[in-house]
Amino acid sequence: MDASRRQQYLDAMGITRYVMREPAATGYPRDAVESGVVAPASLPESGRPAAADISELQPDWAALKTRVASCTACELHASRTRTVFGTGDESAQLMIVGEAPGAEEDRQGEPFVGRAGQLLNAMLHAIGLAREAVYITNILKCRPPGNRNPTAEEAAKCRPFLMQQLSLVKPKVMLAVGGVAAHNLLETDEAVGRLRNRIHYYGEDCTPLLVTYHPAYLLRRPEEKAKVWQDLQKLYGILHGD
Ligand code: URA
Repeated sequence: MDASRRQQYLDAMGITRYVMREPAATGYPRDAVESGVVAPASLPESGRPAAADISELQPDWAALKTRVASCTACELHASRTRTVFGTGDESAQLMIVGEAPGAEEDRQGEPFVGRAGQLLNAMLHAIGLAREAVYITNILKCRPPGNRNPTAEEAAKCRPFLMQQLSLVKPKVMLAVGGVAAHNLLETDEAVGRLRNRIHYYGEDCTPLLVTYHPAYLLRRPEEKAKVWQDLQKLYGILHGD
């Protein structure tokens, strides 16, 4: 990527003064080795949908969408306006996982359409990706009232849907945005600040997974955008894997 193009991307993310000290990440696996990769780990038992869930949910987009739209597995169905399934390229190389729908997403039925979504779009633009070129979804498909964090039970009930989405998209890499997504996927409570900077591996296919800050957090703490830019460069390296 040449300097003027990079500057354009930084501008799109709202980063006005940033000087690159290191060359962009060159990608996986060399980059993974240099940055202290977390060894591929099989998904913890509790992170897997029960076998019954897997067999019950056929790997078929239409069936999965219908199931999500009519889901009443947890109490959130009672307060939602609509379910928020996921959006974007269903064969994307990049799958982004956020937390849960907010008010605007609940109204529109699409993830990341509010202010945080606009910043997410700018983050993607920063590495040359249109929103439509990636697949975006959340840990939860229904809005928790008052935008509270998902409970463990809600996340567990929704997990088979996410696992099915993952097995259908088959992305080259996943990006967990924010602590809720990272903690649920990786079954840890380590801070995002410690989870970023490493390549994790998720699911039965050991899909490389990066963690970065949630765009809503960046709206409150714009000074953290430079770290996200580093994460995005690492992501770019994996996507364009040398
Ligand atoms: N925050 C999320 O994590 N997901 C959305 O869809 C919107 C905001």
